[in-house]
Amino acid sequence: MKVLGIESSCDETATSVVEDGRKILSNVVHSQIDIHSEYGGVVPEVAARSHIEYINPAINKALSDASLTWDDIDAIAVTYAPGLIGSLLVGTLAARTYAKIKNKPLYPVHHVEAHVYANFIIDKSESIKLDLPNNQPTFPLLALIVSGGHTQLVIFEDHGKYKIVGQTQDDAVGEAFDKVAKILGLPYPGGPSISNAALVGDAHKYKLPHAKMQNPYDFSFSGLKTAVLRAVQAEVGVDYTFPSHELHARLYDAQRNDFAASFQHTAVSTLVNATKKAFEEYHPSTVVIAGGVAANFELRDRLRSQIPIEIEYAPPILCTDNAAMVATLGYYQSKVQPSTNPDDLKVFPTLSMNNTSWSKN
Ligand code: KG4
Ligand code: ZN
Repeated sequence: MKVLGIESSCDETATSVVEDGRKILSNVVHSQIDIHSEYGGVVPEVAARSHIEYINPAINKALSDASLTWDDIDAIAVTYAPGLIGSLLVGTLAARTYAKIKNKPLYPVHHVEAHVYANFIIDKSESIKLDLPNNQPTFPLLALIVSGGHTQLVIFEDHGKYKIVGQTQDDAVGEAFDKVAKILGLPYPGGPSISNAALVGDAHKYKLPHAKMQNPYDFSFSGLKTAVLRAVQAEVGVDYTFPSHELHARLYDAQRNDFAASFQHTAVSTLVNATKKAFEEYHPSTVVIAGGVAANFELRDRLRSQIPIEIEYAPPILCTDNAAMVATLGYYQSKVQPSTNPDDLKVFPTLSMNNTSWSKN
């Protein structure tokens, strides 16, 4: 079964065709990073307008890259939650329209759940150059979901049957990477630029705090971000009244790299410690990481060294936003759920993973 996936919840216009929830046939990602970087973050109106421009070409490219026509497509899966409302509307409207005019079943998928499903892609067509895992995850599966909007530890008993065991009580870890990058004067998006700067920094130069949570699987990153801000102020000799957007101009490159490395080390320790603890309590058969921050190499390395079972990782391009994960989740949903009437599909910008129709099955 070949599923066309469509993803437009934030700043990537992405489309992909995946066969049987495991074989990636095409993967089109049109990133808007260039247009948002001058503002230091995603501008919702600008994002929606760019999706309108690229959505149809991206759909056509997903088909042509896979050497397929509409006749070969068995279903359409689209992200309907959560995300920016204008961005979600563009992708879902395209999906609804094609579902109607091409007469294809339509499956709405939850973006955060979909991130986990990037780990189910283990095969590819010859034209795709990706280093994929050898095996699909098995259940029970422990997922550490770390993106720009979410930080959660989730236990999946089976497809669609899961429990969130912990989550951030304030900022998502990706958001913390982005905000700390801004303080340090590193380019948007902050995750990749912090991890690059950290490569040449001293991770033990600045002592930063770990948040203590009542539930050991919950997270908090806003205190860590503020601690970096205070440490930068102290380092350059100003107090909290100094404008924070002017701070980074007073840092030397070496200090910037040490701050990046110290922050990354602390954030990654927090994630790894909680995942290790959850592994010891829940005894999952496999562990996966998902979401944009799962592209982080320090997180990958340290998790592998701390968890006593082998962990396979999706390639970084399938960790950040893409539509292959959407098509893959759509395939598994199609096995247990009826398709959705295109006229009834609505978007839900803030819907939690706990409240999807799939998770209630
Ligand atoms: O999953 P994603 O592409 O979009 C959301 O659903 O949020 O995640 C984006 C987040 C951003 O905060 C970005 O800074 C972070 O993932 N990110 C990284 C890395 N690559 C992207 N964080 C740490 N290290 C990376 N290499
Ligand atoms: Zn995402």
